[in-house]
This record gives sequence, C-alpha cells and structure tokens, in this order.
Amino acid sequence: MQTDSTADPAFSTAGVIWLKLAILYLLIGIVIGIGMGATENFALRPVHTHLNLLGWATMALAGLIYCIFPKAGRSRLSRIHFWLQNIALPVMLISLALLVLGHPGVIPLLAVAEIATGLSIVTFAANIFLNVGAGRR
Ligand code: HEM
Repeated sequence: MQTDSTADPAFSTAGVIWLKLAILYLLIGIVIGIGMGATENFALRPVHTHLNLLGWATMALAGLIYCIFPKAGRSRLSRIHFWLQNIALPVMLISLALLVLGHPGVIPLLAVAEIATGLSIVTFAANIFLNVGAGRR
C-alpha cells in the first residue's frame, strides 16, 4: 500500500519545493541553450551556465539533501538559504543577462546579487555541517 510521505513527521516540504523550483530553472536554461544554438549567438552563455548549474544542479541537490535529511530541511538556516538564494539568483541572472547584452549600468546590482547568492551558499554549507549526519533526521 502506498503511504503519503507528507504525513510523516520526519518529512520536509522544503525539499520538494526546492526540487520544483530547480526543474523550472532547468527548463529556462534549456530554452536559452536551444535559443543560443538556433541563433548562433552565444552572448547569453554565462546566463545559461549559471541558470543550469546554480539554478538546476545546486538547487536540485539542495532539494534532495533536504528530503533525505528533514532536520536540515526544516531548520531556520534552510529558510534563510531558501529566501536568500531564490531572491538573489534571479536578480543575478537578469542583471548578468543585461550586462552581456550591453548595459554596464547594472554592474552594482549584479555585484550585490552575486554576494547575496554567495552568502546563500554559505548558509547552505552551515546547514549541512550543523544538521546533516547520522541520527539527524
Ligand atoms: C537542451 C539542453 C541544452 C542545450 C541546447 C545547451 C546549449 C548550450 C550552448 C549552445 C552552449 C554554448 C556553447 C558555445 O559557446 O560554444 C552551452 C554552454 C554550456 N552549457 Fe549548455 N545546453 C543545454 C543544457 C545544459 C545543462 C543541463 C547544463 C548543466 C547542468 C549545461 C551547462 C553548460 C555549460 C557549463 C556551458 C558553458 C561551456 C563553456 O563555456 O565552455 N547546459 N550550452
């Protein structure tokens, strides 16, 4: 008989939300990749790369880690990680796109978004060190 995993007190909905957001990043990343190939204009390559590697790969891994280790998924650090990364990364990607399309005025915004994205990864790292491990479910 199939059980509803969300009814499990050890379940973390954060992991599922991360996975669903990650797959959206992959879809957008792939559209940009196909667009670059079709037009033979590779200006958006750094946007494609960061969408796929920070948006898809890193976020999907966070989702899987938060599913496997619900204590980490439910922690305060996980919430800080979530909001910091999901606000900073779209700003970083859009400002990076504007920069490579010839709008250098976005550099200060890009710098702030990059630092915030970096900080989100620091909270992810802290969460893994503090809340992931044997007996930490
Ligand atoms: C249908 C899916 C995809 C398409 C059509 C696509 C297309 C492209 C294209 C056209 C480039 C530029 C190549 C060049 O400048 O010569 C590129 C670069 C790149 N793509 Fe994708 N891509 C796809 C999926 C992915 C995924 C899933 C990832 C990572 C998870 C990824 C990571 C990268 C990276 C790291 C680069 C930069 C490579 C470099 O600068 O040498 N791509 N992709």
